Amino acid sequence: MQQNGPIILAIESSCDETSAAVIQKRKILANITSSQAIHEQYGGVVPELASRAHLQNIVPVVNAAIEKSKLNLSALDAIAYTRGPGLLGALLVGTSFAKGLALSLGKPLIEVNHMQAHILAHLIDNGSETPEFPFLCLTVSGGHTQIVLVKSPLEQSILGETIDDAAGEAFDKVAKTIGIPYPGGPLVDNWAKEGNPNRFKFPYPQIHNYNYSFSGIKTSFLYFIQNNLKEDSQFVANNKADICASIQNHIVSYLLTKFLKAAKDLKIKQLAIAGGVSANSELRQQLFELKNKGYKVFIPAFEYCTDNAGMIAIAAHFKFLNGDFSNQSATPLARMPL
Ligand code: KG4
Ligand code: ZN
Repeated sequence: MQQNGPIILAIESSCDETSAAVIQKRKILANITSSQAIHEQYGGVVPELASRAHLQNIVPVVNAAIEKSKLNLSALDAIAYTRGPGLLGALLVGTSFAKGLALSLGKPLIEVNHMQAHILAHLIDNGSETPEFPFLCLTVSGGHTQIVLVKSPLEQSILGETIDDAAGEAFDKVAKTIGIPYPGGPLVDNWAKEGNPNRFKFPYPQIHNYNYSFSGIKTSFLYFIQNNLKEDSQFVANNKADICASIQNHIVSYLLTKFLKAAKDLKIKQLAIAGGVSANSELRQQLFELKNKGYKVFIPAFEYCTDNAGMIAIAAHFKFLNGDFSNQSATPLARMPL
């Protein structure tokens, strides 16, 4: 290992972003992501098209990351990859590539859990303060919604999670209902900026403990839109900003109410958010305001919110230090517990 290492190349290919990053200690030297525009026309990620796009993108993306890091492949101490959870065909591309590269360079392999990595993005050294342990993280992505107790980098336990749809999925389905293209989350966020978040009210699901449910919110939103369209065919067109602001405010308030309950019960004052939905401006704002209530809050840089290999690299860093290596027979996992 280099004196100021370890230096690790990490690859992420779990869904529709092909990404490669190089990390040295906890500093990211390069983080290159290629997003797959092909899925827009289908209104969601088409798994087979995602796998093909990963195959096309992976070599240029890895080359770009290595070039940006100004290092040679020989400087690497390990190759890391996302083993799961995610789309199996998409994961296979990153896994196979990482294995082949590790084998040809004679370097060790490190497998990373994508959800664990979303959280560990908070420990990347980019000059800002990082959370202290234990902290609580609300992980909100296109496939997951979890309240996670983080005791140390590699000791994470789920306190609660969604029993049906994920928060990101709820944003995407809301968007689809009112004719906003995929991926709807960022566009709903944009529309909401001009709207009144208190204009329309929606019911809260009655789910006990720290679990969430989004399928009821999705259905009540659908009925709300259908009923209003019966009265006024221009309802969506004339009220889009208020609709987006109101449903966004509802989803975010629901997410944070439970998250705060867990924080109070566990007496934890350090709160973080992670995953694609942590890019949402309302969620970021409402979390930020908790500073006034005595909480220390951690909001990831946009670059590390949605899927990226930088987060895989930081997770691999801690696994490297722990001597936690993978082997050539490991296969990807569509589902992978924390
Ligand atoms: O973590 P991520 O990039 O991929 C998964 O691992 O799923 O999350 C993607 C999800 C999508 O559902 C997308 O609509 C949502 O994150 N998202 C947002 C925003 N940016 C991304 N949702 C709401 N507001 C945003 N600004
Ligand atoms: Zn993700």
